[in-house]
Amino acid sequence: MSTVVKLGGSVITRKNEPFSARSDTIYELAEEISNYLRENKKHGLLLVHGGGSFGHPLVRECLEKIGYVNTQCFARVAFYMDLLNHLVTEALLASEVPAVRITPRSICWGVNYGECDFGVVGKLMSSGLVPVLYGDIILSGSESRVLSGDDIVWYLTRSLGLKKVIFVTDVNGVYDKDPKLHKDARVLSNMHVSRVLKEASFWEVPDVTGGMLNKLRKSLLLGIKDVKIYVINGFVPGNLLSALEEKNVVGSILWV
Ligand code: IPE
Repeated sequence: MSTVVKLGGSVITRKNEPFSARSDTIYELAEEISNYLRENKKHGLLLVHGGGSFGHPLVRECLEKIGYVNTQCFARVAFYMDLLNHLVTEALLASEVPAVRITPRSICWGVNYGECDFGVVGKLMSSGLVPVLYGDIILSGSESRVLSGDDIVWYLTRSLGLKKVIFVTDVNGVYDKDPKLHKDARVLSNMHVSRVLKEASFWEVPDVTGGMLNKLRKSLLLGIKDVKIYVINGFVPGNLLSALEEKNVVGSILWV
């Protein structure tokens, strides 16, 4: 079963420290991916990672200072995202995962579905390589726009007919309420995404749940069907390997 794994920016970087990668976590996750591939050589695997403190603060700074992403900002964001990708790919190679960078800004001409050519990604995956994409800065017409890693995940899923998506996050899954405010918040699992969207009724918290619900809602908007979705905690050792191997996880198991 072909799978795409999204390594969230808050897992692989320290969100509050500019350009600070969590090397130990990256190496641990790379090792789990390697263990999985050793036993499952035939299953296609794709990786997408977020920007965390290598992407978002720079973009925010440009927007606050000049109101848009100019050529200087574009080049700097591109550089730092490539740098983070280099660190992730280096860890994967050290664990003998045949990882190959695909730079989204080179294959996308907009941030909507249908504005990326994933042909080469599919070909590399079918040859046993592990393409690694990432949230990136994209030239859309004459404007610079951020294409998030989450959107890339769903675009790949739809374009390449993938059947499993794993979101590696810094929380224990999709909650029905903000766990920071409500002691009785529950992790929602074993349900269709449309039920999650009904049960988790609040959207205003951008990081913990609002962001999560938007992440899931996108699959419905794109008409994606028959896909199993894991939202797991990436700081729990062995959790990514368990999700890859369909075992019990600390997280939510959903479908769309
Ligand atoms: C953001 O990608 C990329 C840039 C800001 C250039 P994501 O939106 O996927 O990153 P995270 O996972 O939220 O950090």
